[in-house]
Amino acid sequence: MVNYPTAPITLPTFSMQGKVCMVTGAARGLGLEFCRAFIQSGCTCLALLDLRDLDIATAIEELSAFATNELALDPSALKMVGVACDVASETSVKQAFATIIDTFGRVDAVVASAGIVENYPAIDYPADRVKLLFDINVHGVFYTAREAARNMIATGGGSIILISSMSANIVNIPQLQTPYNASKAAVKHMASSLAVEWAKQNVRVNCLSPGYMLTKLTAEILRKDPDLKATWEGLTPMGRMGQPEDLAGAIVFLASDASKFVTGSEIRVDGGYCAV
Ligand SMILES: NC(=O)c1ccc[n+]([C@@H]2O[C@H](COP(=O)([O-])OP(=O)(O)OC[C@H]3O[C@@H](n4cnc5c(N)ncnc54)[C@H](O)[C@@H]3O)[C@@H](O)[C@H]2O)c1
Repeated sequence: MVNYPTAPITLPTFSMQGKVCMVTGAARGLGLEFCRAFIQSGCTCLALLDLRDLDIATAIEELSAFATNELALDPSALKMVGVACDVASETSVKQAFATIIDTFGRVDAVVASAGIVENYPAIDYPADRVKLLFDINVHGVFYTAREAARNMIATGGGSIILISSMSANIVNIPQLQTPYNASKAAVKHMASSLAVEWAKQNVRVNCLSPGYMLTKLTAEILRKDPDLKATWEGLTPMGRMGQPEDLAGAIVFLASDASKFVTGSEIRVDGGYCAV
């Protein structure tokens, strides 16, 4: 075993130092963990987008405390801006990007994490709920990616990461969620398609597909059906649900220069679920 004399022990290309990062759905769950991973990797300019001001303010407080207490960072060195934004509205997304560009001048890494899931049998799925789900999970991701690319192209490039799901590749059981699964398959193919469209302009687009992760989104489902956790763990080769921090390495890889020749790819972080 090699003993390295100095920390941190990592490839310099993984550093997020000097990069402006933006995350949608950043107030909680995976979005919040992506923000944490960026700060841990040296990012000091971060924009958090979510539906409600209050939730974003709480997230910013949590991240500030983390940076100060866990990373011993000078709080004045970390600039975070919270923007209330409904990704389902193109106008709202455009306004949010305008605020970010006003604040930071550019954006280098954008993560589209805002998303919802609901469980109904397809036969009875209310049409307005299907529409809402696609408006957020598909159109919202498209508006976010397009606005990101417009700004990145103007400043020389960047990295866009669309949060899909293992549900893009498999049909979850036993819970019924056809529109969600279809929306995540759409996001996965959107990443490949946009990657090809924008490759020459140095805008990379990849998707990250988590398996079952313990967040408020899944907690809500498990609250209604507590036995489901054991079922999900039984179906996952690694025998557990993922912790949000299990995605930290993958998100930093895709957002940073470590992946500068990677575009149109999917990284699955699912404890082996899709391998079976
Ligand atoms: N948790 C999992 O097991 C899991 C697995 C695979 C994929 N995902 C995907 O990861 C992403 C994040 O999931 P999560 O578990 O963190 O969910 P979460 O519910 O904990 O957080 C989602 C966040 O998105 C925000 N949001 C919802 N609608 C929005 C809108 N219209 N505009 C802006 N923000 C909005 C919510 O306010 C919330 O803060 C989703 O796209 C989800 O489909 C989650």
